[in-house]
Amino acid sequence: MVSEWYEGVTLSSELFPGGEAIYRLTLANRGTAMLSDFRLGFSGPGRIGLESSVTNGSFVTQLSNFVEIAPPPGFTLPPGADWVVDFDNLAHPIRHWTDGATTGFLILADGSTRSLRTVPTTLYTMDTPPKRGTVRFPVPAQPPVPVSIIPWPLSVAVKGRRTAPSGLAPKGAGGTDAEAAVEGFEQLSSILFPGEGLCRPEREGGYPVELVPGSGGKEGYAIDFAPDGARVTAETRTGFFYGLITLGQMLRGARGKLLEFSFPTAGRIEDAPSYGWRGCHLDVARRFYSSADVTRFVALLAWNKLNVLHWHLSDDEAWRVEIDAYPELTRKAAWNGYGLAVPPLLGSGPERAGGYYAKADIRRIVAVAELFGVDVVPEIDVPGHCYALLQAVPQLRDPGENGLYFSVQGFPNNCLNPGVEATYGVVETIFGEMVDLFPSRYFHVGADEVPHDAWETSPAARALGARLGSDGTAPLQAHFLQRVQAFLAEKGKITGAWEEASQGGGIDKAGSYLVGWKDTAISQKLAGEGYDVVVAPAQAYYMDMAHSEEFAESGAAWAGFSSLENTYRFEPAAGWSEAERAHLMGIQGCIWNEPMTDRAVFDRLVFPRLSAIAETGWSANRDFARFTALVGLMPNMYGNYEDN
Ligand code: ACM
Repeated sequence: MVSEWYEGVTLSSELFPGGEAIYRLTLANRGTAMLSDFRLGFSGPGRIGLESSVTNGSFVTQLSNFVEIAPPPGFTLPPGADWVVDFDNLAHPIRHWTDGATTGFLILADGSTRSLRTVPTTLYTMDTPPKRGTVRFPVPAQPPVPVSIIPWPLSVAVKGRRTAPSGLAPKGAGGTDAEAAVEGFEQLSSILFPGEGLCRPEREGGYPVELVPGSGGKEGYAIDFAPDGARVTAETRTGFFYGLITLGQMLRGARGKLLEFSFPTAGRIEDAPSYGWRGCHLDVARRFYSSADVTRFVALLAWNKLNVLHWHLSDDEAWRVEIDAYPELTRKAAWNGYGLAVPPLLGSGPERAGGYYAKADIRRIVAVAELFGVDVVPEIDVPGHCYALLQAVPQLRDPGENGLYFSVQGFPNNCLNPGVEATYGVVETIFGEMVDLFPSRYFHVGADEVPHDAWETSPAARALGARLGSDGTAPLQAHFLQRVQAFLAEKGKITGAWEEASQGGGIDKAGSYLVGWKDTAISQKLAGEGYDVVVAPAQAYYMDMAHSEEFAESGAAWAGFSSLENTYRFEPAAGWSEAERAHLMGIQGCIWNEPMTDRAVFDRLVFPRLSAIAETGWSANRDFARFTALVGLMPNMYGNYEDN
């Protein structure tokens, strides 16, 4: 049911900072009718817990960042008046405008809801408007290099200058890797640059590009330039594809910036990546992204020569994959809304919002990704982060569990219980359906942020602990994960997990990899213990963190902030021994979606930091000045820039 806007009534919010920060909501009635007998619902990434005190109203319900409050009994709000409510002692501080309430709504006496015009949160005394959209990086008049390529290749020894060709006419022999690479490149260009004619036949002025099998390893390539054409040499389809992307970037630079860049007539580019794993994680649970969005995102990864999409498909807030055996997962847990199994969260409104991917959608995305050299690694986050799943499949709870524990995000009892035997059957059925959808060698099972007191009051969990002869949460988690890993190994999969999967005895090092996210010291230690690791430190590679401390910046702050330069300069293996480096698979950026309240926020937070991470993953030769001179030519997701 759509929730109509309540005309003339506006919700705004303001933060009064300091040790005793106050978060003030103002409901302004500028309509013509008296408001009475109503309650107010709102959510946003900043959390107001029940331990917060509220003046001029009272809590009705609260779950994670969803709050419903009521005015004092008998309260009325006449036209022209404001209802002002102050909260203190927030459960999660508000540091940026995107932390505040982004969606407010009224719940009327008959239980119906009406949406409110909700103004972005401001900081007391601050008059800077919220910052949204990708920061512009204009190409300087004299860039330090004559060609525009990101990530920068291993060796660029080009000579001569010619006018930019109007498009590329790549040719690979039929039925070969080269031909498949051409098909991939044509699809990629039409997704990212529709109407540009980046690929065109020679009769339409296309610049001949011959694709010739040769050396280059798994992803490398070489390009030899002549005045009237180029030759790409590679050993694999991905190598050819990356050679074409390099040519496409050079052409777009030279065609768009006629005086700044040129196109060579001779010389050679040789290229190969530094790391095998160059990934990006995308959380589609906190906020849903359509198949079309995900497809474009995969194309953007490929244009940056990133080769893994770590697709975070479930979390406390939602479940996103069609599972035949459990239709209630997508019927109930794919949606947020007032009165539904999962309430409005992170700024979703009162009406049903969200969505899920049918199996056919996933197959299509995986097939396009394959064509673009991107391995799609699914993540189903267990045993923690399962609030939505447990709302849909409540029979997995231990009926004897009588206490509450809370996740760091404020969800109560949100973990699958290792002591409930039925849990394994459900997880194996779900994973069994999913391994057929995802051809990747890897399957990521989450394992992050299980509260340290999870299952403490569950008799079933305590009985399992006694049987195992262990005490506490971590060994139970390890037991659960070991069983899941054994199941996935039988299906031929390597189990991926966040770094916490090493706790309580850990999972088997053979047949697993861990993503280190808290800081690199932990990743280094795990590599030293023999775990294969991918580093994704929140302080540099979590693209949901704001670019700076400024309140007007979009984004989160729990891991600090990361400027483009900080992200770019992060050195994954600094101080690692040879033995530790042998276990470093590569790097990945992470896109968590709590603060991505709209598309312009996504564009601001992700770009161009995504390209900074890509350059670290690929290039042996990094240079921030060169990077900033070129990065303005890289596409973003939705076309929002800070000045439009
Ligand atoms: C994580 O950020 N919880 C992996």
